[in-house]
Amino acid sequence: MCGIVAYSGPKDASKILLEGLVALEYRGYDSAGLVTTHSGIFKAVGPVAELKKKVPESVGGSTGIAHTRWATHGVPSELNAHPHEDCGKTIALVHNGIIENYQELKSALQKAGHTFSSETDTEVIAHLYESYKTAGKTPKDAFLATLRELEGTYGIALIDRAHPDVVLVACMGSPIVIGIGDGEHFIASDPSAIVRHTKKVLYLNDGEVAIVTPRECQVMTLGAKKISRAPETIEWEVEEAKKGGHAHFMLKEIMEGPEVLRTSARGRLRPEEGDVKLGGLLSITHELKRIKRITIVGCGSAYYAGLVGKYMLEEYAGIATDIDVGSEFRYRGLPLEEGAAVLAVSQSGETADTLASIREAKRRGLLTLGIVNVVGSTIARETDAGVYNHAGPEIGVASTKAFLSQLEVLALLTIFLGRQRHLSDTEAKRIAKELASIPEKVEKILKNVEPIKRAAERLKGATNALYIGRKYNMPIALEGALKLKEVSYVHAEGYGAGEMKHGPIAMIEPSFPTVAIAPRDSVYAKMISNIEEIKARKGPVIAVATEGDTEIAKKADEVIHIPETHEMLTPILSVVPLQLLAYYVGVAKGYNVDRPRNLAKSVTVE
Ligand code: F6R
Repeated sequence: MCGIVAYSGPKDASKILLEGLVALEYRGYDSAGLVTTHSGIFKAVGPVAELKKKVPESVGGSTGIAHTRWATHGVPSELNAHPHEDCGKTIALVHNGIIENYQELKSALQKAGHTFSSETDTEVIAHLYESYKTAGKTPKDAFLATLRELEGTYGIALIDRAHPDVVLVACMGSPIVIGIGDGEHFIASDPSAIVRHTKKVLYLNDGEVAIVTPRECQVMTLGAKKISRAPETIEWEVEEAKKGGHAHFMLKEIMEGPEVLRTSARGRLRPEEGDVKLGGLLSITHELKRIKRITIVGCGSAYYAGLVGKYMLEEYAGIATDIDVGSEFRYRGLPLEEGAAVLAVSQSGETADTLASIREAKRRGLLTLGIVNVVGSTIARETDAGVYNHAGPEIGVASTKAFLSQLEVLALLTIFLGRQRHLSDTEAKRIAKELASIPEKVEKILKNVEPIKRAAERLKGATNALYIGRKYNMPIALEGALKLKEVSYVHAEGYGAGEMKHGPIAMIEPSFPTVAIAPRDSVYAKMISNIEEIKARKGPVIAVATEGDTEIAKKADEVIHIPETHEMLTPILSVVPLQLLAYYVGVAKGYNVDRPRNLAKSVTVE
């Protein structure tokens, strides 16, 4: 989710690169860097403004590359910021994505005498290219040979000082767009960095490479087979381009769900073996085997994700799990138990109450773990070990894609801890295979938004709404209600459906809608009874149900279907329509859903 910008043409490259970086900053902002074929590398931690302070007025060089980083491997620091160089410092490159086999490649390169100066996966690309160049290959052949050794995802722009007007570009699972100007080319990870210069663009497909000079852009396959494709014209203006053509970041981030789920599981999930590899927990494998109780802490949506995690860990990993919001946990007189661990769930990794809870747990000598999105954030640094989400920066204040990724990482953790205990091979494979197919199922939901829009029409006039669910979907009822409150200011409450009769049913009347999350799972029949009870009191019902469930359509006023999956994974599907529902209601009411009133993205005060 980092940002790449590169240039080859007659102008001062550094100016174009800095402008491009500012436009890309929404993709990541923990550090930035740039280099031209005639300059040394400039790097700075923090926003692009910090980099600008370091880059002199006249840098020289009309070919260059630049990057704004959202850390995945290695904390945000100047050393880890891109561009990265080879040992001879003759080439430099910027990279988006994750090189999964970087450890193997790095060890082999180190044995061959290469010295690494960063902790990143990216740097292996520079040294591999160098080794092929030293062996006598041309830049094109060295680049192609390098790419053929990489496993994982990449968008790459590389400059070689021996060929000062060339940028070598590659794309595999991380987008690259080439802007075609008059005697100049612009390269970027998304059009927002280049639309101010040109609207004529060529998108690289996965497995494609481009050799770009001011006058030429040769596209080819990894096997050096030429590809010719006519450029397209983009209609977006700068602001729209940042949102990928969507009206809001919230919608863009919901739509990124499938990609985020793939990234969060990449290199970790092994469906065929029914197992999971979590590099961030490797150092504490033995301590994890001794865990008898986990206490999850989080705030807001992260707490609700943790609540789903409690059900997962108890049912499939066999570990007693309790959960608390950070603002309560930190004041609880937690009894010290042998074998207890505290797991913080936090997108930002900076939420004050969650952080204070981790500090309190450490003070009491407990093992602390984190599921965190922002690499190098305080919670990531202060926990003993953890798993990163790799969901990329979330700009919309209301959490959407990060929530999805939190659920997925909790499922991965459940398989991992379950396999250390009594989770059977068959069950683990069943869950792992379903998890591997979850991104496609989310895609399917996102392709059919009409029922969700119809449901939003029903909700937009309401002043109150109730969300109900059971077992794995009880927390999703809470999350759905929170989303609606946040972005549409409709008062909504989430309840475990079994609690209806203990109070909330008193509210039901024709103007009070209920959203019932009722996939075909082990509590389906009980959810149907709850829906009947609401209908008997003339309450409108919007149901989220499994595809092919025709029964529920006879009872509910509106049905939103989700594909079938393993019960434990249903929240990953059921929450998606609820995020969209809140979005459509908020937009219909004319609110700025990306910046709801009174809210901040990162709550760093108590
Ligand atoms: C809701 C939302 C918040 C956050 C909460 C925790 O849409 O975004 O409830 O989930 O403030 O934030 P993190 O995950 O950064 O600790």
